[in-house]
Amino acid sequence: MSPLRTGCMMLLLLVGQSLGASPSFSLDYKNDCFRKDGERFRYISGSIHYSRIPRVYWKDRLLKMYMAGLNAIQTYIPWNYHEESPGRYNFSGDRDVEYFLKLAQEIGLLVILRPGPYICGEWDMGGLPAWLLSKKNIVLRSSDPDYITAVDKWMGKLLPMMKPYLYQNGGPIITVQVENEYGSYFACDYNYMRHLSKLFRSHLGDEVVLFTTDGAGVGYLKCGAIQGLYATVDFGPGANITAAFDAQRHAEPHGPLVNSEFYTGWLDHWGSAHSVVSPAAVAKSLSEMLARGANVNLYMFIGGTNFGYWNGANDPFDAQPTSYDYDAPLSEAGDLTEKYFAIRDVIKMYHKIPEGPIPPTTPKYAYGVVPMKKLQTLSDALEKLSFSGPVKGVYPQTFIDLNQAFGYVLYRTTLPVNCTTPTPLSSPLNGVHDRAYVSVDGVAVGILERNKVITINVTGKAGSQVDILVENMGRLNYGGYINDAKGLLSNLTLGKDTLTDWIMYSLSIDEAVNQGLLGEKELTPKRPTQGAGLSPPAFYGGSFIIPDGIPSLPQDTYIMLPNWRKGQIWINGFNLGRYWPTRGPQVTLFVPFNILSTTAPNNVTILELEGAPCSLKPCTVEFSSTPILNATGQSDHKLHWGHYTKEDLL
Ligand SMILES: *[C@@H]1O[C@H](CO)[C@@H](O)[C@H](O)[C@H]1NC(C)=O
Ligand SMILES: *[C@@H]1O[C@H](CO)[C@@H](O)[C@H](O)[C@H]1NC(C)=O
Ligand SMILES: *[C@@H]1O[C@H](CO)[C@@H](O)[C@H](O)[C@H]1NC(C)=O
Ligand SMILES: *[C@@H]1O[C@H](CO)[C@@H](O)[C@H](O)[C@H]1NC(C)=O
Ligand SMILES: *[C@@H]1O[C@H](CO)[C@@H](O)[C@H](O)[C@H]1NC(C)=O
Ligand SMILES: *[C@@H]1O[C@H](CO)[C@@H](O)[C@H](O)[C@H]1NC(C)=O
Ligand SMILES: *[C@@H]1O[C@H](CO)[C@@H](O)[C@H](O)[C@H]1NC(C)=O
Repeated sequence: MSPLRTGCMMLLLLVGQSLGASPSFSLDYKNDCFRKDGERFRYISGSIHYSRIPRVYWKDRLLKMYMAGLNAIQTYIPWNYHEESPGRYNFSGDRDVEYFLKLAQEIGLLVILRPGPYICGEWDMGGLPAWLLSKKNIVLRSSDPDYITAVDKWMGKLLPMMKPYLYQNGGPIITVQVENEYGSYFACDYNYMRHLSKLFRSHLGDEVVLFTTDGAGVGYLKCGAIQGLYATVDFGPGANITAAFDAQRHAEPHGPLVNSEFYTGWLDHWGSAHSVVSPAAVAKSLSEMLARGANVNLYMFIGGTNFGYWNGANDPFDAQPTSYDYDAPLSEAGDLTEKYFAIRDVIKMYHKIPEGPIPPTTPKYAYGVVPMKKLQTLSDALEKLSFSGPVKGVYPQTFIDLNQAFGYVLYRTTLPVNCTTPTPLSSPLNGVHDRAYVSVDGVAVGILERNKVITINVTGKAGSQVDILVENMGRLNYGGYINDAKGLLSNLTLGKDTLTDWIMYSLSIDEAVNQGLLGEKELTPKRPTQGAGLSPPAFYGGSFIIPDGIPSLPQDTYIMLPNWRKGQIWINGFNLGRYWPTRGPQVTLFVPFNILSTTAPNNVTILELEGAPCSLKPCTVEFSSTPILNATGQSDHKLHWGHYTKEDLL
């Protein structure tokens, strides 16, 4: 298979003007610019993460970016997305990064590649695979031999695959980033950065422009910038542009000015207000940077969706929601926004932009209300969910000990004593990572939550079964604590005693949902609810048929979960992500058309963790044609506002 059939055709076009000279891309320190095929060149780029967009939509989104006047895109490669277990690589379907690069090139977009190994990106563990943590004391993002061995192996797979796509080899990739905002990490290990620099060079050759990105402050550049890698900075609208580029100049007295992440919006956290940044603010700063001749990458140009379990979190623990809309110029669903046109108008003042129609916003369809039925509680379905069977231990083990990266693990023990009066069940060391749904003899008694609720009261007889379902809500993607084994990281106590003799069930819920294992047959008798109307975690199912006679169906849609509380949702086995409308700000989940079927009933499966609204009247979900990402959830605790003040917002 020639990797670049389309690329080769493109190559002919690209080198046409330079009469057969081979394509080149380089830094020009004398004239403070990039040079492409010998000509002065400036990029106006936008970030798009293929891992957050269904493959069927890559072309549509890239075309919209091209039509906005961008001449490049920037993307991350999340290591954990491609190597979910050691040595097992996946580059197919939605993970086919080579196809993504080919599409970009076909459309006429250059590529700024950010292959990590660490990427941040509001992505679980900043893109590092959780299995790295099976080496207990590993120091991530450092010269730690265990870490370096894994990085070398991964890059030994990835970078040779990328090499044919470098610009000088006829592909679209003009620059390659090494690591990401390393100057913000505590380790400050120059040997690690030097090692990466050599590693990238050895696989990609001497010609490629390698660069780093750091916060626009001399302090960040101190540990982030090293010789041989071109130092760039990142900052959003509202920053002092002169001061920000002065910081870059401190590290790079000459060469092109580059803002590698100019923030068009900002990320969200569960329980905080939806971030919005005005189109006017974005347009103003963008125009100022372009007027100075700077190269700019708009982060994000389209955010997309954290499907499944891929969202990250920030410290102190605040998880990000499923939507990564980002208030970007193209919405989560790829819709054209006011900000899109504002940016296009700015670019138009500096560069010729392509003529022709912009691909329109895709229509959305409201499939309506779908009744949902209770299938089974998670505890009752345990045998079908635990493919590997239970593991016994005196003390609790983590997800990583149990060889599970994402999702949910059930921890089971018994009450050692009679608890006739309310007795505190606690995680004294705050070791519940991240949320634990506790039931005693099948009755939900409360929820422990990292940093927020470390004690609940329980009652029950000695010998009663205690089931604790622990949810991994996403690993930190930024800062010093990205190494999170998840699950129960420390002992739980009941009164003064440490709870012991656990049975732990690693759960393969996605596989079970996919294989249709969660039947309706073994419906368990209703059990009383308790406390704040909690019920034990349970599965619900329903289905809907796409109406006949409308040729444009299926179309994209949004799913709403009226009066549902918190959980995970699948459609036809595809894991759409987490919902948590009681905390917000996200209320609807984006449902791309490609997971829907017109020939069979579409199956909706829900794992509701706190209690479904099905006890009084039949419960439903609803498909609507408009998203809601900015509700202010009726949070049950005081929210942390704005403590995630990344340097770039200065
Ligand atoms: C690889 O990833 C694709 C896209 O997510 C998925 O459909 C496929 O099942 C995966 N393949 C394997 C072997 O896991
Ligand atoms: C922006 O930064 C420059 C350089 O540090 C400084 O001279 C200028 O006063 C700043 N402008 C504003 C509005 O703060
Ligand atoms: C719990 O209470 C019952 C009586 O209700 C008693 O028979 C049993 O011995 C007690 N168990 C423990 C472990 O104290
Ligand atoms: C547990 O119960 C005790 C006694 O009723 C009460 O004082 C305490 O506030 C309760 N603690 C929690 C966390 O509910
Ligand atoms: C639980 O407590 C025991 C006894 O103190 C200790 O040996 C063990 O390391 C603890 N386990 C965890 C996960 O903290
Ligand atoms: C939904 O489930 C039913 C019953 O298991 C099955 O016949 C049907 O094919 C499923 N639909 C899709 C789109 O997979
Ligand atoms: C949420 O966003 C919609 C659409 O942009 C807007 O009309 C509405 O006023 C916003 N609501 C809140 C509470 O900000």
